[in-house]
Amino acid sequence: MVASTKMILYAAALFLLVPLTTPQAGPVPVVLWHGMGDSCCNPLSMGSIKRLVEQKVGDGVYVKSLMIGSNIVQDTENGFFMNANDQVANVCAQLKNDPKVQQGYNAMGFSQGGQFLRAVAQRCPSPPMLNLISFGGQHQGVYGFPHCPGENQTLCDEVRKLLNFGAYIPWIQDFLAQAEYWHDPLNEAEYREKSVFLADINQEKNFNQTYKTNLLKLKNMVLVKFAYDTMVDPKESEWFGFYNEGQGVKLYNMTQSKLYQQDLIGLKELNESGRIALLESPGDHLQFTDAWFEANILKFLK
Ligand SMILES: *[C@@H]1O[C@H](CO)[C@@H](O)[C@H](O)[C@H]1NC(C)=O
Ligand SMILES: *[C@@H]1O[C@H](CO)[C@@H](O)[C@H](O)[C@H]1NC(C)=O
Ligand SMILES: *[C@@H]1O[C@H](CO)[C@@H](O)[C@H](O)[C@H]1NC(C)=O
Ligand SMILES: *[C@@H]1O[C@H](CO)[C@@H](O)[C@H](O)[C@H]1NC(C)=O
Repeated sequence: MVASTKMILYAAALFLLVPLTTPQAGPVPVVLWHGMGDSCCNPLSMGSIKRLVEQKVGDGVYVKSLMIGSNIVQDTENGFFMNANDQVANVCAQLKNDPKVQQGYNAMGFSQGGQFLRAVAQRCPSPPMLNLISFGGQHQGVYGFPHCPGENQTLCDEVRKLLNFGAYIPWIQDFLAQAEYWHDPLNEAEYREKSVFLADINQEKNFNQTYKTNLLKLKNMVLVKFAYDTMVDPKESEWFGFYNEGQGVKLYNMTQSKLYQQDLIGLKELNESGRIALLESPGDHLQFTDAWFEANILKFLK
């Protein structure tokens, strides 16, 4: 008697709750975007992240590690030599055409993949991105290129040469992804005018209300900064901080930034509704342990 009453109640509860709380069967899919010098499918980087997510989220979660281009070599090269706006458009199309993510997905971006996925959230609201988790993304850009990630030093040397030659020279801006988030605090006006990617998504060129409306659709924006990051200059960019105009030493933080103060992309509204998480991992660029991931990130994926 007791057991069957329980069963009926349980069934009724499920009937009421299921349509409200589970828009799709199984866990929310996860989309990964790799960093510079890396590719979708390196077993030591994105491959191990994919396995980690599959293992910790469980239930056969669908994890899509984005490939830009038609093979791993192209994917790696495109991370340097394909216009960031074209890369974002490519990913928007991939997501639109993947039936498995149509009801929404969580996004995990690594290094430049962090700011690129933010652009996806701002420009391409469908399918919906639910949580954006940025690992060491450079949301205010970089002003330096101290180390080279990945296995191919030649590619980085090429990038350095071009950045030194002139990041804001139009032909370099047009194809070099790193020039497109190069942020020179000594030349803010030139940055605002000529940066074809970062100044656009940060609304420093023109203000596009759609970008803000779309970013505010996120459930959470999680920004991971690496405490001992030697790759990103300045590492505070990972939390929307950057150098004060006119020099390269003193920094402002997110709350002090123009982006926040004028709420250009929705940071203030996101923060005030408790939807920005500023997390720090005690390591170098992209270094975190499985335990740190489990304690800090997993809750956004479950
Ligand atoms: C604003 O951004 C949306 C999304 O990318 C785009 O469709 C639209 O053309 C933009 N509007 C302007 C005025 O640039
Ligand atoms: C590095 O990348 C360049 C350009 O894609 C390629 O020609 C070269 O073979 C690569 N070197 C190594 C060691 O993979
Ligand atoms: C930025 O610095 C100010 C002044 O020290 C502080 O009150 C504020 O909490 C900081 N904001 C962040 C996001 O760290
Ligand atoms: C941002 O959010 C945090 C946590 O909710 C809060 O302590 C802080 O005061 C907020 N900052 C501003 C400027 O609203």
